[in-house]
Amino acid sequence: MSQLFLAPMEGLADYVLRDVLTSTGGFDGCVSEFVRVTGSVLPRSVYEREAPEVLRGARTSSGTPMVIQLLGSDPDWMALNAAMASSVSPHGIDLNFGCPANIVNRHGGGAMLLAHPEQLNRIVSSVRAAVPAGIAVTAKMRLGVSDTSLAIDCATALAEGGAASLVVHARTRDHGYRPPAHWEWIARIDAAVDVPVVANGEVWTVADWERCRAVSGCADVMIGRGAVSDPFLALRIRGLMDRTPSGEEWPAVLGQLADYLRKLQLRVAVRHEHGRVKKWLSYLKRTWPQAEELHAAIRRLHDSYEIIEVIERALACNHSMPARQRAAAGLLDHATPCSLADCAIAGTVQ
Ligand SMILES: Cc1cc2nc3c(=O)[nH]c(=O)nc-3n(C[C@H](O)[C@H](O)[C@H](O)COP(=O)(O)O)c2cc1C
Repeated sequence: MSQLFLAPMEGLADYVLRDVLTSTGGFDGCVSEFVRVTGSVLPRSVYEREAPEVLRGARTSSGTPMVIQLLGSDPDWMALNAAMASSVSPHGIDLNFGCPANIVNRHGGGAMLLAHPEQLNRIVSSVRAAVPAGIAVTAKMRLGVSDTSLAIDCATALAEGGAASLVVHARTRDHGYRPPAHWEWIARIDAAVDVPVVANGEVWTVADWERCRAVSGCADVMIGRGAVSDPFLALRIRGLMDRTPSGEEWPAVLGQLADYLRKLQLRVAVRHEHGRVKKWLSYLKRTWPQAEELHAAIRRLHDSYEIIEVIERALACNHSMPARQRAAAGLLDHATPCSLADCAIAGTVQ
Protein backbone atom coordinates (compact mmCIF):
# COMPACT_ATOMS: atom_id res chain seq x y z
CA MET A 1 0.00 0.00 0.00
CA SER A 2 1.26 3.44 -0.82
CA GLN A 3 2.19 5.79 1.98
CA LEU A 4 0.89 9.25 2.82
CA PHE A 5 2.85 11.78 4.84
CA LEU A 6 1.77 15.02 6.45
CA ALA A 7 4.18 17.74 5.27
CA PRO A 8 6.19 19.96 7.60
CA MET A 9 4.64 23.44 7.74
CA GLU A 10 6.37 25.94 9.96
CA GLY A 11 3.91 28.26 11.72
CA LEU A 12 0.97 26.10 10.67
CA ALA A 13 1.39 22.36 11.30
CA ASP A 14 2.51 22.75 14.90
CA TYR A 15 2.46 19.91 17.40
CA VAL A 16 -1.24 20.39 18.14
CA LEU A 17 -2.35 20.52 14.50
CA ARG A 18 -0.17 17.48 13.71
CA ASP A 19 -1.93 15.74 16.57
CA VAL A 20 -5.43 16.68 15.35
CA LEU A 21 -4.74 15.85 11.69
CA THR A 22 -3.01 12.53 12.31
CA SER A 23 -5.75 11.53 14.80
CA THR A 24 -8.28 12.10 12.03
CA GLY A 25 -6.48 9.28 10.28
CA GLY A 26 -4.91 8.14 7.03
CA PHE A 27 -1.32 9.35 7.55
CA ASP A 28 1.70 7.07 7.86
CA GLY A 29 4.06 9.73 9.15
CA CYS A 30 4.54 13.41 9.85
CA VAL A 31 7.41 15.88 10.12
CA SER A 32 8.09 18.59 12.70
CA GLU A 33 8.31 22.25 11.74
CA PHE A 34 11.93 22.98 10.85
CA VAL A 35 14.39 23.60 13.64
CA ARG A 36 16.91 26.18 12.47
CA VAL A 37 20.58 25.40 13.02
CA THR A 38 23.09 28.25 13.05
CA GLY A 39 26.35 28.51 14.99
CA SER A 40 25.51 26.56 18.14
CA VAL A 41 24.32 23.20 19.40
CA LEU A 42 20.72 23.47 20.46
CA PRO A 43 19.89 21.69 23.70
CA ARG A 44 17.54 18.70 23.96
CA SER A 45 14.91 20.99 25.45
CA VAL A 46 14.50 22.71 22.05
CA TYR A 47 13.50 19.41 20.45
CA GLU A 48 11.22 18.55 23.35
CA ARG A 49 9.53 21.92 22.90
CA GLU A 50 9.36 21.97 19.07
CA ALA A 51 8.54 18.29 18.66
CA PRO A 52 6.93 17.14 21.92
CA GLU A 53 6.05 13.85 20.25
CA VAL A 54 9.55 12.77 21.37
CA LEU A 55 8.21 12.60 24.92
CA ARG A 56 5.96 9.73 23.84
CA GLY A 57 8.13 7.61 21.60
CA ALA A 58 8.18 10.16 18.75
CA ARG A 59 4.58 9.41 17.85
CA THR A 60 1.52 11.63 17.80
CA SER A 61 -1.29 10.63 20.16
CA SER A 62 -2.74 8.46 17.39
CA GLY A 63 0.57 6.57 17.09
CA THR A 64 1.77 8.24 13.86
CA PRO A 65 5.60 8.36 13.67
CA MET A 66 7.20 11.81 13.66
CA VAL A 67 10.49 12.88 12.09
CA ILE A 68 12.44 15.96 13.23
CA GLN A 69 13.40 18.40 10.47
CA LEU A 70 16.59 20.49 10.62
CA LEU A 71 17.42 23.49 8.46
CA GLY A 72 20.94 24.83 8.11
CA SER A 73 23.88 25.15 5.75
CA ASP A 74 27.02 24.32 7.73
CA PRO A 75 27.90 20.59 7.61
CA ASP A 76 29.63 20.56 11.01
CA TRP A 77 26.95 22.42 12.94
CA MET A 78 24.29 20.36 11.19
CA ALA A 79 26.07 17.16 12.23
CA LEU A 80 26.43 18.24 15.86
CA ASN A 81 22.80 19.28 16.04
CA ALA A 82 21.61 16.12 14.30
CA ALA A 83 23.49 14.08 16.91
CA MET A 84 21.74 16.02 19.67
CA ALA A 85 18.35 15.67 17.93
CA SER A 86 18.99 11.92 17.69
CA SER A 87 19.36 11.75 21.45
CA VAL A 88 15.60 12.33 21.81
CA SER A 89 15.01 9.31 19.49
CA PRO A 90 12.88 10.69 16.64
CA HIS A 91 11.80 8.31 13.88
CA GLY A 92 14.23 10.07 11.60
CA ILE A 93 16.08 13.29 10.88
CA ASP A 94 14.93 15.16 7.79
CA LEU A 95 16.98 17.95 6.19
CA ASN A 96 15.23 20.96 4.68
CA PHE A 97 16.56 22.06 1.28
CA GLY A 98 13.40 23.76 0.10
CA CYS A 99 12.65 26.71 2.35
CA PRO A 100 12.11 29.83 0.18
CA ALA A 101 11.96 32.35 3.05
CA ASN A 102 14.20 35.38 2.50
CA ILE A 103 15.45 35.41 6.06
CA VAL A 104 16.72 31.83 5.63
CA ASN A 105 17.91 32.20 2.03
CA ARG A 106 19.88 35.38 2.79
CA HIS A 107 22.16 33.25 4.97
CA GLY A 108 22.57 30.63 2.24
CA GLY A 109 20.18 28.12 3.84
CA GLY A 110 17.07 26.27 2.65
CA ALA A 111 16.41 26.35 -1.09
CA MET A 112 19.52 28.46 -1.84
CA LEU A 113 21.65 25.36 -1.26
CA LEU A 114 20.11 23.87 -4.42
CA ALA A 115 22.65 25.99 -6.36
CA HIS A 116 25.44 23.95 -4.72
CA PRO A 117 24.97 20.17 -5.05
CA GLU A 118 28.45 19.51 -3.60
CA GLN A 119 27.45 21.38 -0.41
CA LEU A 120 24.25 19.34 -0.19
CA ASN A 121 26.36 16.23 -0.38
CA ARG A 122 28.69 17.46 2.39
CA ILE A 123 25.79 18.30 4.70
CA VAL A 124 24.02 14.96 4.27
CA SER A 125 27.28 12.98 4.59
CA SER A 126 28.23 14.78 7.82
CA VAL A 127 24.78 14.35 9.29
CA ARG A 128 24.62 10.70 8.27
CA ALA A 129 27.99 10.06 9.94
CA ALA A 130 26.83 11.74 13.17
CA VAL A 131 23.46 10.01 13.51
CA PRO A 132 23.14 6.45 14.88
CA ALA A 133 22.56 3.87 12.15
CA GLY A 134 19.06 3.04 13.45
CA ILE A 135 17.77 6.56 12.73
CA ALA A 136 17.05 7.36 9.08
CA VAL A 137 18.39 10.56 7.56
CA THR A 138 16.17 11.89 4.77
CA ALA A 139 16.04 15.08 2.70
CA LYS A 140 13.37 17.35 1.28
CA MET A 141 14.21 19.41 -1.81
CA ARG A 142 12.71 21.68 -4.41
CA LEU A 143 13.66 21.54 -8.11
CA GLY A 144 16.19 24.35 -7.94
CA VAL A 145 16.58 28.02 -7.12
CA SER A 146 15.47 29.75 -10.33
CA ASP A 147 15.44 26.86 -12.80
CA THR A 148 15.61 23.09 -12.86
CA SER A 149 19.07 22.76 -14.42
CA LEU A 150 20.61 21.27 -11.24
CA ALA A 151 17.60 19.24 -10.06
CA ILE A 152 19.09 15.84 -10.94
CA ASP A 153 22.55 16.81 -9.63
CA CYS A 154 21.02 17.88 -6.32
CA ALA A 155 18.98 14.70 -5.94
CA THR A 156 22.00 12.55 -6.79
CA ALA A 157 24.19 14.49 -4.35
CA LEU A 158 21.66 13.92 -1.57
CA ALA A 159 21.23 10.21 -2.30
CA GLU A 160 24.98 9.65 -2.59
CA GLY A 161 25.51 11.56 0.65
CA GLY A 162 23.39 8.97 2.45
CA ALA A 163 19.79 10.25 2.37
CA ALA A 164 17.55 7.20 2.81
CA SER A 165 14.74 8.81 0.82
CA LEU A 166 13.90 12.13 -0.82
CA VAL A 167 10.76 14.22 -0.75
CA VAL A 168 10.60 16.32 -3.89
CA HIS A 169 8.45 19.46 -3.78
CA ALA A 170 7.99 19.89 -7.51
CA ARG A 171 8.69 23.62 -7.80
CA THR A 172 11.74 25.85 -7.78
CA ARG A 173 12.38 28.37 -5.04
CA ASP A 174 11.28 31.18 -7.37
CA HIS A 175 7.99 29.40 -8.08
CA GLY A 176 7.12 29.91 -4.41
CA TYR A 177 3.79 28.19 -3.91
CA ARG A 178 2.30 29.14 -7.29
CA PRO A 179 0.58 26.31 -9.16
CA PRO A 180 1.25 24.17 -11.04
CA ALA A 181 3.60 21.69 -9.39
CA HIS A 182 5.83 20.08 -12.01
CA TRP A 183 5.22 16.44 -11.13
CA GLU A 184 6.92 15.29 -14.34
CA TRP A 185 10.21 16.43 -12.79
CA ILE A 186 9.66 14.07 -9.85
CA ALA A 187 9.57 11.19 -12.34
CA ARG A 188 12.92 12.32 -13.80
CA ILE A 189 14.48 12.52 -10.34
CA ASP A 190 13.00 9.16 -9.36
CA ALA A 191 14.62 7.59 -12.43
CA ALA A 192 18.00 9.10 -11.54
CA VAL A 193 18.37 8.00 -7.90
CA ASP A 194 18.40 4.63 -6.17
CA VAL A 195 16.53 5.74 -3.05
CA PRO A 196 12.73 6.00 -2.66
CA VAL A 197 11.23 9.31 -3.77
CA VAL A 198 8.09 10.84 -2.25
CA ALA A 199 6.09 13.22 -4.45
CA ASN A 200 4.97 16.56 -3.03
CA GLY A 201 3.16 19.67 -4.21
CA GLU A 202 -0.33 20.81 -5.10
CA VAL A 203 -2.34 17.77 -3.95
CA TRP A 204 -5.67 19.17 -2.76
CA THR A 205 -8.11 16.42 -3.77
CA VAL A 206 -8.27 12.68 -4.38
CA ALA A 207 -8.15 13.41 -8.12
CA ASP A 208 -4.94 15.46 -7.64
CA TRP A 209 -3.40 12.59 -5.66
CA GLU A 210 -4.24 10.17 -8.49
CA ARG A 211 -2.78 12.48 -11.15
CA CYS A 212 0.31 13.24 -9.06
CA ARG A 213 1.03 9.52 -8.69
CA ALA A 214 0.38 8.84 -12.36
CA VAL A 215 2.64 11.66 -13.59
CA SER A 216 5.43 11.27 -11.01
CA GLY A 217 5.36 7.48 -11.03
CA CYS A 218 5.78 7.63 -7.23
CA ALA A 219 3.58 5.54 -4.98
CA ASP A 220 4.15 7.70 -1.90
CA VAL A 221 2.90 11.27 -1.54
CA MET A 222 3.41 14.03 1.03
CA ILE A 223 0.52 16.45 1.51
CA GLY A 224 0.74 19.90 3.06
CA ARG A 225 -1.88 22.59 2.53
CA GLY A 226 -4.39 20.11 1.10
CA ALA A 227 -4.52 18.34 4.46
CA VAL A 228 -5.10 21.60 6.32
CA SER A 229 -7.83 22.66 3.86
CA ASP A 230 -9.53 19.28 4.07
CA PRO A 231 -8.56 17.34 7.21
CA PHE A 232 -10.33 14.27 5.76
CA LEU A 233 -8.26 14.19 2.56
CA ALA A 234 -6.05 11.30 3.71
CA LEU A 235 -9.16 9.29 4.66
CA ARG A 236 -10.75 10.06 1.28
CA ILE A 237 -7.58 8.87 -0.47
CA ARG A 238 -7.74 5.68 1.57
CA GLY A 239 -11.35 5.19 0.45
CA LEU A 240 -12.54 5.52 4.06
CA MET A 241 -14.67 8.62 3.44
CA ASP A 242 -16.57 10.09 0.49
CA ARG A 243 -14.25 11.07 -2.34
CA THR A 244 -15.34 14.71 -2.31
CA PRO A 245 -16.14 16.94 0.67
CA SER A 246 -19.75 17.79 1.52
CA GLY A 247 -21.53 20.32 3.74
CA GLU A 248 -22.70 17.45 5.95
CA GLU A 249 -19.12 17.03 7.16
CA TRP A 250 -18.84 20.61 8.42
CA PRO A 251 -20.05 19.89 11.99
CA ALA A 252 -17.28 17.32 12.34
CA VAL A 253 -14.78 19.98 11.21
CA LEU A 254 -16.22 22.39 13.78
CA GLY A 255 -15.67 19.68 16.38
CA GLN A 256 -12.04 19.41 15.23
CA LEU A 257 -11.58 23.19 15.50
CA ALA A 258 -12.90 23.18 19.06
CA ASP A 259 -10.65 20.22 19.88
CA TYR A 260 -7.67 22.06 18.35
CA LEU A 261 -8.34 25.16 20.47
CA ARG A 262 -8.74 23.18 23.68
CA LYS A 263 -5.44 21.40 23.06
CA LEU A 264 -3.75 24.69 22.14
CA GLN A 265 -4.91 26.20 25.41
CA LEU A 266 -2.78 23.63 27.21
CA ARG A 267 0.36 24.59 25.28
CA VAL A 268 0.41 28.03 23.71
CA ALA A 269 0.45 31.48 25.26
CA VAL A 270 -3.14 32.75 25.28
CA ARG A 271 -2.32 35.64 22.95
CA HIS A 272 -1.40 33.24 20.10
CA GLU A 273 -4.33 30.83 20.12
CA HIS A 274 -6.82 32.98 18.20
CA GLY A 275 -4.26 33.64 15.43
CA ARG A 276 -3.60 29.94 14.94
CA VAL A 277 -7.24 28.99 14.61
CA LYS A 278 -7.88 31.88 12.20
CA LYS A 279 -4.96 30.69 10.08
CA TRP A 280 -6.41 27.18 9.92
CA LEU A 281 -9.85 28.62 9.10
CA SER A 282 -8.42 30.56 6.17
CA TYR A 283 -7.37 27.22 4.65
CA LEU A 284 -10.69 25.51 5.49
CA LYS A 285 -12.54 28.19 3.47
CA ARG A 286 -11.19 26.55 0.35
CA THR A 287 -13.27 23.47 1.08
CA TRP A 288 -16.24 24.65 3.18
CA PRO A 289 -17.91 28.05 2.61
CA GLN A 290 -19.23 27.81 6.18
CA ALA A 291 -15.68 28.54 7.34
CA GLU A 292 -16.18 32.08 5.99
CA GLU A 293 -19.15 32.62 8.35
CA LEU A 294 -17.18 31.38 11.33
CA HIS A 295 -14.18 33.51 10.36
CA ALA A 296 -16.39 36.60 10.19
CA ALA A 297 -17.94 35.78 13.57
CA ILE A 298 -14.62 35.40 15.37
CA ARG A 299 -12.59 37.98 13.46
CA ARG A 300 -12.52 40.39 16.40
CA LEU A 301 -12.28 37.78 19.14
CA HIS A 302 -8.93 37.32 20.82
CA ASP A 303 -10.04 35.06 23.62
CA SER A 304 -10.00 31.40 22.68
CA TYR A 305 -12.68 30.59 25.27
CA GLU A 306 -15.02 32.98 23.46
CA ILE A 307 -14.13 31.38 20.13
CA ILE A 308 -14.89 27.92 21.52
CA GLU A 309 -18.23 29.27 22.76
CA VAL A 310 -19.11 30.49 19.24
CA ILE A 311 -18.24 27.07 17.82
CA GLU A 312 -20.18 25.24 20.51
CA ARG A 313 -23.28 27.40 20.00
CA ALA A 314 -23.14 26.62 16.27
CA LEU A 315 -22.69 22.94 16.97
CA ALA A 316 -25.70 22.97 19.26
CA CYS A 317 -27.84 24.37 16.44
CA ASN A 318 -30.59 21.82 16.05
CA HIS A 319 -32.34 23.20 13.03
CA SER A 320 -31.45 20.99 10.14
CA MET A 321 -28.38 19.29 11.55
CA PRO A 322 -29.35 15.66 11.96
CA ALA A 323 -28.94 14.18 15.42
CA ARG A 324 -26.40 11.70 14.11
CA GLN A 325 -24.09 14.52 13.00
CA ARG A 326 -24.32 16.17 16.41
CA ALA A 327 -23.60 12.82 18.00
CA ALA A 328 -20.61 12.35 15.67
CA ALA A 329 -19.26 15.70 16.84
CA GLY A 330 -19.77 14.61 20.46
CA LEU A 331 -22.61 17.03 21.18
CA LEU A 332 -25.77 16.94 23.19
CA ASP A 333 -28.90 18.86 22.30
CA HIS A 334 -28.92 22.40 23.52
CA ALA A 335 -31.67 23.95 25.60
CA THR A 336 -30.99 27.54 24.40
CA PRO A 337 -32.57 28.47 21.06
CA CYS A 338 -29.97 29.20 18.40
CA SER A 339 -29.67 32.44 16.47
CA LEU A 340 -29.50 33.00 12.71
CA ALA A 341 -25.75 33.56 13.13
CA ASP A 342 -25.33 30.21 14.88
CA CYS A 343 -27.20 28.52 12.04
CA ALA A 344 -25.05 30.24 9.40
CA ILE A 345 -21.86 29.05 11.07
CA ALA A 346 -23.27 25.56 11.46
CA GLY A 347 -24.31 25.58 7.80
CA THR A 348 -27.94 24.88 8.65
CA VAL A 349 -31.13 26.66 7.62
CA GLN A 350 -33.73 27.96 10.06
C1 LIG B 1 2.94 27.66 5.91
C2 LIG B 1 3.95 26.70 5.32
C3 LIG B 1 5.07 26.36 6.07
C4 LIG B 1 6.01 25.45 5.55
N1 LIG B 1 7.06 25.06 6.34
C5 LIG B 1 7.91 24.09 5.89
C6 LIG B 1 8.92 23.56 6.74
O1 LIG B 1 9.06 23.90 7.92
N2 LIG B 1 9.76 22.61 6.20
C7 LIG B 1 9.63 22.17 4.91
O2 LIG B 1 10.40 21.33 4.46
N3 LIG B 1 8.65 22.63 4.11
C8 LIG B 1 7.79 23.56 4.57
N4 LIG B 1 6.75 23.98 3.77
C9 LIG B 1 6.56 23.36 2.45
C10 LIG B 1 5.60 22.17 2.55
O3 LIG B 1 6.14 21.14 3.37
C11 LIG B 1 5.29 21.59 1.17
O4 LIG B 1 6.48 21.17 0.57
C12 LIG B 1 4.61 22.61 0.26
O5 LIG B 1 3.58 23.30 0.93
C13 LIG B 1 4.04 21.94 -1.00
O6 LIG B 1 3.10 20.96 -0.65
P1 LIG B 1 1.52 21.25 -0.71
O7 LIG B 1 1.23 21.81 -2.07
O8 LIG B 1 0.90 19.89 -0.46
O9 LIG B 1 1.21 22.25 0.36
C14 LIG B 1 5.82 24.89 4.26
C15 LIG B 1 4.71 25.25 3.52
C16 LIG B 1 3.76 26.14 4.02
C17 LIG B 1 2.54 26.49 3.21
